[in-house]
Amino acid sequence: MRIIAITNQKGGVAKTTTAVNLGACIAKRGKRVLLIDLDPQGNLSSWLGIRINELTESMSNVFNDEVPLKEIIQETCVENLWVAPSNVTLASVERTLLNREDKDTILKKSLEFVVTCYDYVLFDCPPSLGILTVNALTAALEVVIPLETKVLALNGLVTLINTVNLVRDTINPDLEITGIVACMFDIRTNLSNEVVSMIKDKYNHKLFKSLIRESTKLAECPISGQPITLYAPESSGAKDYTNLAKEIIAGEKREGWWMTRWMRGYA
Ligand SMILES: Nc1ncnc2c1ncn2[C@@H]1O[C@H](COP(=O)(O)OP(=O)(O)OP(=O)(O)O)[C@@H](O)[C@H]1O
Ligand SMILES: [Mg+2]
Repeated sequence: MRIIAITNQKGGVAKTTTAVNLGACIAKRGKRVLLIDLDPQGNLSSWLGIRINELTESMSNVFNDEVPLKEIIQETCVENLWVAPSNVTLASVERTLLNREDKDTILKKSLEFVVTCYDYVLFDCPPSLGILTVNALTAALEVVIPLETKVLALNGLVTLINTVNLVRDTINPDLEITGIVACMFDIRTNLSNEVVSMIKDKYNHKLFKSLIRESTKLAECPISGQPITLYAPESSGAKDYTNLAKEIIAGEKREGWWMTRWMRGYA
């Protein structure tokens, strides 16, 4: 069981694209994968064919203790891939939870009776470092950071790493940054190469070897209602996310290793 927060407070860096396609590629390799949409925009849920405006129960009800997580989980068009959907109602959670003492640990608690059903749980985080992202960092054991390689802006990365360190030092001592994924890599420009070499200089051991190239098929994918593995299985995007999935799966530890660490949070 691995629980991974896909996060970056910067908007539009390919968090959702990575959550859906990485999830589908891991599922294709026979692992049971749960995607949890933690973004009030509901992009991940819409992508997987859910009519988010018609949802009667979603992640906001889970955060408000109105329904157990397992009751909102839905199947997707991909075998071994499930989704816990969200919509705009999740936006009010930041306000309604503000005065709750346990506000940072609600997601972790909601996972208690669910995690054992899955090999991988992936959180698609919103573009902020608010309560929803802190819940993801508290419930997760690992962090995967998608980074856009089309702009030279590593300041945000430093802020994010500081936040991860803060959560680790205060509430979740087992949290680790598994890796940084260079996304929207444009092989024709020097800029992408420059960004990648800057990340290598600073965070060499954390940069995944698999790069996600810029690809029209990946950009078209969300409106198709399918992940890249079904929409364009031969595309560069499918290959890149398959390589990333293999790299992440290769980091698996012996059975029970993650579970033991995760349960420590309840001690
Ligand atoms: N490798 C890629 N090639 C081409 N387009 C991409 C690629 N990855 C992502 N995109 C496009 O970039 C845009 C932003 O991607 P995405 O929605 O995944 O980012 P995000 O970080 O989840 O955004 P937000 O912060 O709003 O949640 C989308 O239009 C998506 O289709
Ligand atoms: Mg997103």
